[in-house]
Amino acid sequence: MVAKTTIVRFTTACLFVCCFLFSEANLFAQREAVPTDEAIIKTGAGLFEEYACNTCHNVVGKKVGPALAGVYDRRELEWIYSWVKNSTLLIESGDAQAVGLYNEYNKLQMAAYDLSNDQILSIMAYVRNVEENPVVAAVDSAAGSDGAVAQVDGVPAQYLNIMVGVLVFVLVVIMIVLGLIISVLRKIAQDKGDLSDDDEAVINEKFSLSSFLRSPVVIGIITFLVIALAGKNVIDGLYTIGVQQGYAPEQPIAFSHKLHAGQYEIACQYCHTGVEIGKSANIPSVNICMNCHNFLKTDSPEIQKLYAAQESGQPIEWVRIHNLPDLAYFNHSQHVQVGEIECQTCHGEIQEMEVVAQHAPLTMGWCIDCHRNTDINSKGNGYYDKIVELHNKSSKTPLKVADIGGLECAKCHY
Ligand code: HEC
Ligand code: HEC
Ligand code: HEC
Ligand code: HEC
Ligand code: HEC
Ligand code: HEC
Repeated sequence: MVAKTTIVRFTTACLFVCCFLFSEANLFAQREAVPTDEAIIKTGAGLFEEYACNTCHNVVGKKVGPALAGVYDRRELEWIYSWVKNSTLLIESGDAQAVGLYNEYNKLQMAAYDLSNDQILSIMAYVRNVEENPVVAAVDSAAGSDGAVAQVDGVPAQYLNIMVGVLVFVLVVIMIVLGLIISVLRKIAQDKGDLSDDDEAVINEKFSLSSFLRSPVVIGIITFLVIALAGKNVIDGLYTIGVQQGYAPEQPIAFSHKLHAGQYEIACQYCHTGVEIGKSANIPSVNICMNCHNFLKTDSPEIQKLYAAQESGQPIEWVRIHNLPDLAYFNHSQHVQVGEIECQTCHGEIQEMEVVAQHAPLTMGWCIDCHRNTDINSKGNGYYDKIVELHNKSSKTPLKVADIGGLECAKCHY
């Protein structure tokens, strides 16, 4: 009896191990079937961008859809072809893997793609290459982020207030100490006794508050303080006319950056297409939303508004938040592309905002402060080589934006 069950157990275990080994081997065969030719990888990389797979997929790490690294280990190549060509068909056919995946991703639907098996295989080749050569990929992305300008504002207002407070405190302490020294000295002098009349008068002079306040020095100081304070308030007031820091109007569609740019990590540039190439960042047109919302969340009332806009041909009337007066000129590509400044430096943590709020004051002082404090990012930019060389001959501090004309009125004013 015992022997029999042992044999049954043993054979089942063997079967499991065999199945496992077999399937492993099978899976490895899938990966090995993905080509590693340079040319094919390049084609795949191009298709990955051209068909905008990258808006929803990372090679490594989840985005809107799953990470693609290792799909050729999880799935048959044939399955991948059918999926990419028409995932809906595969889901409707009841394929367990497809249905499971679809449910796992909250029933987000991927579009159907008119791609050939070879094209899809080349995309897999690209994915495999990025997966197996992460160093290259990491260097690529690091090149974009390193050398970013870090230091920004000068001394923030709250520190100024603290500094003034500390100064006043120190002054008061000095006055108290001086007072103590005077009374000690006076006591010593009186104890000694043999003083001239003049000295006696000085020592015994009583402190009178009213005569102290009427002395010209004190009146001068107080007048100066009052004028300075009033002046500062007036200037502050003038500077903040039209300043809309924190402005966060309600938008016609409940679009969330926290969801799109944060949770789903969609690149800012995917929607704000102008930031790297032009003056204006651009607000995306309905078409860009439709790349995904033709398939995603089609029943949502907020998404229905997108369809209505597309049908009527009327653009969505987003409420503008950041707005410089016409007299000032600001160019995004100069800052984002050439200066390599992160969006967040000027706009705050947009990817955490449910509703966008204006982060920076957008005053002239704000622009100027940064130009005074920020080093020019000249790395790998041949245009700056000569300028940096000249600058380093005459100065020990790094080249700032101010040094290349960042404080000239005409650079920012038409
Ligand atoms: C609109 C967003 C979106 C785009 C664009 C997109 N996908 Fe997907 N993809 C998904 C989602 C979401 C899933 C998960 C399944 C689901 O919910 O439909 C998925 C699943 C997959 C899978 C299966 C992954 C796995 O783990 O089994 C593959 C393969 C795939 N996509 C390839 C592609 C390719 C190739 C492209 C470009 C030609 C592409 N996708 C474009 C959203 C997208
Ligand atoms: C899926 C598309 C999409 C992505 C991705 C996206 N945005 Fe936006 N963005 C919009 C839309 C639509 C608006 C207008 C509605 C609003 O203000 O929320 C907007 C508005 C803004 C505004 C305010 C514009 C104004 O009126 O002054 C800023 C700033 C901004 N986005 C920055 C970013 C940054 C930074 C990122 C990346 C972290 C990003 N966006 C990613 C679609 C997008
Ligand atoms: C790259 C794909 C992609 C693009 C482009 C995109 N979205 Fe989305 N959007 C999503 C995903 C993913 C969700 C979350 C779906 C979910 O919660 O299941 C979503 C959700 C939403 C929702 C919430 C819907 C609801 O009722 O829960 C709104 C509103 C929305 N998007 C508006 C927009 C607008 C407006 C644009 C264009 C400016 C846009 N989206 C562009 C992927 C995208
Ligand atoms: C050096 C500061 C700075 C950086 C960096 C910056 N912006 Fe802006 N952004 C501004 C200013 C200033 C405005 C207002 C421009 C105007 O009114 O003419 C603005 C306006 C915008 C707007 C409103 C539309 C427009 O173009 O006027 C969007 C959207 C936007 N920025 C997105 C981005 C994104 C996305 C990035 C990163 C890729 C970014 N910005 C980086 C300063 C910056
Ligand atoms: C976070 C820092 C920062 C802020 C804020 C900022 N800038 Fe700049 N700006 C730079 C940097 C860095 C450069 C140099 C980019 C380069 O290498 O050409 C620059 C360059 C410029 C230039 C070109 C200067 C030249 O001599 O070629 C202009 C014009 C300009 N900025 C305007 C503005 C305006 C207008 C504002 C405010 C609305 C502003 N900037 C806010 C960092 C900033
Ligand atoms: C780095 C960019 C920059 C430089 C350099 C610059 N400005 Fe401005 N200036 C601005 C911006 C941005 C505004 C709009 C600020 C606002 O609306 O609060 C502005 C506003 C002004 C205004 C209108 C004030 C107001 O409150 O409406 C005057 C006047 C002005 N600047 C004069 C100058 C003069 C003179 C110079 C040269 C000494 C100069 N600016 C240099 C960016 C700059």
